[in-house]
Amino acid sequence: MDKVKKDFPILNSNKIVYLDSGATTQKPQMVLDAVNEYYKSKNANPHRGAYSLSVEATRVYEEGREKISKFINSPTSAQVIFTKNASEALNLIAYSYGLDNLNKNDEVVLSIMEHHSNLVPWQYVTKKTNSKLKYMYINDDFELSDEEIYSKITENTKIVGITHVSNVTGTINDVEKIIKYAHKKGAIVILDASQSIPHMKIDVQRLDADFVVFSGHKMLAPLGLGVLYGKKELLEKMSPFLMGGDMIEYVYEQDTTFAPLPSKFEAGTQNVGGVVGLCAAIDYIESIGYENIQKHEKEVVDYAIKRLKQLEYIKLYITPNRKNHSAVISFNIVGVHPHDVASILDANGVCVRSGNHCAQPLMRYLEIDSTCRASFYLYNTKEDVDKLILAIEKAYKMFEKYIIKN
Ligand code: ALA
Repeated sequence: MDKVKKDFPILNSNKIVYLDSGATTQKPQMVLDAVNEYYKSKNANPHRGAYSLSVEATRVYEEGREKISKFINSPTSAQVIFTKNASEALNLIAYSYGLDNLNKNDEVVLSIMEHHSNLVPWQYVTKKTNSKLKYMYINDDFELSDEEIYSKITENTKIVGITHVSNVTGTINDVEKIIKYAHKKGAIVILDASQSIPHMKIDVQRLDADFVVFSGHKMLAPLGLGVLYGKKELLEKMSPFLMGGDMIEYVYEQDTTFAPLPSKFEAGTQNVGGVVGLCAAIDYIESIGYENIQKHEKEVVDYAIKRLKQLEYIKLYITPNRKNHSAVISFNIVGVHPHDVASILDANGVCVRSGNHCAQPLMRYLEIDSTCRASFYLYNTKEDVDKLILAIEKAYKMFEKYIIKN
């Protein structure tokens, strides 16, 4: 696995330690080549032209949908909708399902760990429909307890929104339990798999979530492509979200009939290059295997946690239960602003994200403004961890004299 890094040109040419894969991953040569080849020899607008190049672009696009559908074990490829990112997929569900199905006093239950993308749309929709927005809070181990899940999801709950893996704490939520329980209470479940699918197999039929969303760019594909999976009976009943070209059947002056799935939800020219890139990313991930990815990440992340715990001035925001923890480590140098720490790390060639990570309600709940976040992926090594620790030690030395000690 330590040879994997060689496949990523940016990591070799820039000599950086890239620890921000939770924000976006770097791309292997295989993905770059596939996208380049598409634009060099196959590019045209799909579903539009009768000429062979457009037919070829359509074939590439639809075969890509087939491949991505198989990858997540969707029963049909018509249930796989392409969006511009996971946020758009979540907005689509909130507008097209939420607005039409929520009534006064119905409840939407989210975890406090949700990214703003799976939270802000629900604030808007619950206000519009006079329904209620409730949260499941985490315990001191940064996990959702059974009591919390069972007390918040009730007969009044109509929609549960849950992130599979927190982009801040790295907690892996027991989503199978949540989905089963929500279904027992008559609610549907939206699973945000953006932070999980890069690291673990997602089988939408086994999970039985009603909607699953993720983005390509967090799993080695180019920016600009999101994926929405939904149960067919729900998608078929839903109104379109964006209107325009290709999502219609017949358009009259005053009325329109809509195309069947998946086109109904795909207005405008679609990102064929993104689909090509995601297919190549899937090939790359499958050539290594999730088992090997997980084994490698576990070794590297275990090592990072061990080294970070040796620094008495570091506070970690992760669960102590490693089996419930993915590849994200949020931390602070106590008394030093995370942006200052991240800048010093950057000066030492180490890229981490700092800030609230698009999770302000979680930050408020934890009574902090922000954290530094190191997020790991298959190309990271223990040497990367050593460089991270060295840079943190430098940052601490630089700011030590300014830290106000209690
Ligand atoms: N959602 C991405 C992150 O957590 C951008 O960094």
